[in-house]
Amino acid sequence: LEAAPSPRGGSVKVAAVAQMEGFTVKSVPTKPIEGQKTGTSGLRKKTKVFMSENYLANWIQSLFNALGKEAVGKTIGLGGDGRYFNKEAVQIILRLAAGNGISKVVVGKDAIMATPAMSALIRRRSLYGGLIMSASHNPAGPEEDWGIKFNYSAGEPAPEKITDEIYGFTTSIGELKMGDIPDVDLSKVGTTKFGSFEVEVVDYTAEYFATLKEVFDFPALRAFMSRADFSMVFDALHAVTGAYADPLLVKELGGKPDSLHNAVPLEDFGGGHPDPNLTYAHELVEVMWSDKAPVFGAASDGDGDRNMILGSHFFVTPSDSVAIIAANAQAAIPYFKGGLKGVARSMPTSGALDRVATKLGLPFYETPTGWKFFGNLMDAEQCSICGEESFGTGADHVREKDGLWAVLAWLSILAQKNKGVPVGAPLVSVKDIVMDHWKQFGRNFYSRYDYEGVESEAANKMIAHLEGVIAGSKKGDKFGDYVLETADNFTYTDPIDGSVAKNQGIRFVFQDGSRIIFRLSGTGSAGATIRMYIEAYTNDASSFEKDAQEVLKGIIGTALETSKLTEFTGRDKPTVIT
Ligand code: G6P
Ligand code: ZN
Repeated sequence: LEAAPSPRGGSVKVAAVAQMEGFTVKSVPTKPIEGQKTGTSGLRKKTKVFMSENYLANWIQSLFNALGKEAVGKTIGLGGDGRYFNKEAVQIILRLAAGNGISKVVVGKDAIMATPAMSALIRRRSLYGGLIMSASHNPAGPEEDWGIKFNYSAGEPAPEKITDEIYGFTTSIGELKMGDIPDVDLSKVGTTKFGSFEVEVVDYTAEYFATLKEVFDFPALRAFMSRADFSMVFDALHAVTGAYADPLLVKELGGKPDSLHNAVPLEDFGGGHPDPNLTYAHELVEVMWSDKAPVFGAASDGDGDRNMILGSHFFVTPSDSVAIIAANAQAAIPYFKGGLKGVARSMPTSGALDRVATKLGLPFYETPTGWKFFGNLMDAEQCSICGEESFGTGADHVREKDGLWAVLAWLSILAQKNKGVPVGAPLVSVKDIVMDHWKQFGRNFYSRYDYEGVESEAANKMIAHLEGVIAGSKKGDKFGDYVLETADNFTYTDPIDGSVAKNQGIRFVFQDGSRIIFRLSGTGSAGATIRMYIEAYTNDASSFEKDAQEVLKGIIGTALETSKLTEFTGRDKPTVIT
């Protein structure tokens, strides 16, 4: 036996050594670690867990085992959301990549790469895939969360087939193949060669911005953003979009530097929870509801895929946002000037988008929760724009949701609507755009109630009870003031590959288009999270300005009664309302 560097520093005894051109590959013995089950958003655990022993190395080796020979000789991308441990993790991943026959790794400078930027990088450089070090909007730091996910060659999250295989390998792993190479300096752009293996440190904005430039009219955006009467705030919540905000919004598009808030990415996200919603982006909310509120406000999450859009004293729900972007895309965004191929939303997202699809005569798809379901539609050129109620909006320029894309989409709509408005005259505001949309299409009042940390057994019993209600009900039945059209547990058949996803959420659809939906979160970490989604439609213009909670009071009561939620869970209030 001879000594080799351990993935976590120090040295360990190795059993075998192979010589590659320019470096040796050492076989480091390891043992399976429990609980490395990989979801479609990758593996997420406490940072300390990832930093312990071979935890990260085991998962990465299992990934390479799952990819097998196909990945040998290929180039992959690597980067992350700027959180604590990313820079150290890069060095471990590079040694394993070298040891497993990857020929080249393209790494974002300082280990940075937003999720949609990785998707763009993979697509533009025709990479085999890419690794993103992120736990999305979960807090970061030594006591918080870390995560890793793998995206495939179209830039899309790895399918379940691969994530299942990775998990399989984690349960039987016995060996790490470590390339014996030194740490790579991530602070400088450039290529370092180790014989047959090379590492290219790249500007993490390059491919992403090149893609955004193909989508949007940058000169038009620049002209609008430099207007004296335009003002905005973009809050990066000290997460990854901080690294993109200044080069994009200020340098490329002429925004004012003071319009960027919390735009320095920090390893602990400044101690915050970088999730762009009314609860966690409260600093931005205060600015947007102040006397000096700017025209436009937006925020993004830890890894840059989510977004929240605000106007002065106005919140655009994610469900309305995707509908309004779709309705205005052809006129405001050059990439869509030939029209849209189709649109899609996740099942619990409001039906606002459906009405736009009908008016524009577009193919429309309703998918289960999770961005991965949009990928097939996009690859088959069936979907141009899609969105989810969970603050995800995007298009087929990449295969991830894209926070800054949504920001530029809204800025483009504002720019187009204000083209003829002379400086000094009142600008067409975000609220005006939304009100106009409602006048044309009606308003889908919408709210989501989250019950976090519910006992799993209680949550499952409630779902079972709801299954019973579905089985016992028929079209025409009365639920409070609502008359039932259909009730089911949502099943999705992918129109492209025919795959079927069952049990994707309990839904009651009423004859006026109002809906009650229940599902259990797939991303929680402790116990179960019940999500209750409520939607009621009106085309009565006199009620458009009403508060959603007011309008939905009745149907929320009906939902709670139907589900017996309080009886099953003991909860009389949700943890979060969005
Ligand atoms: C992640 C996915 C989204 C999905 C969301 C739902 O953010 O990327 O596509 O909408 O999770 O999470 P949930 O907790 O409702 O299952
Ligand atoms: Zn995210």
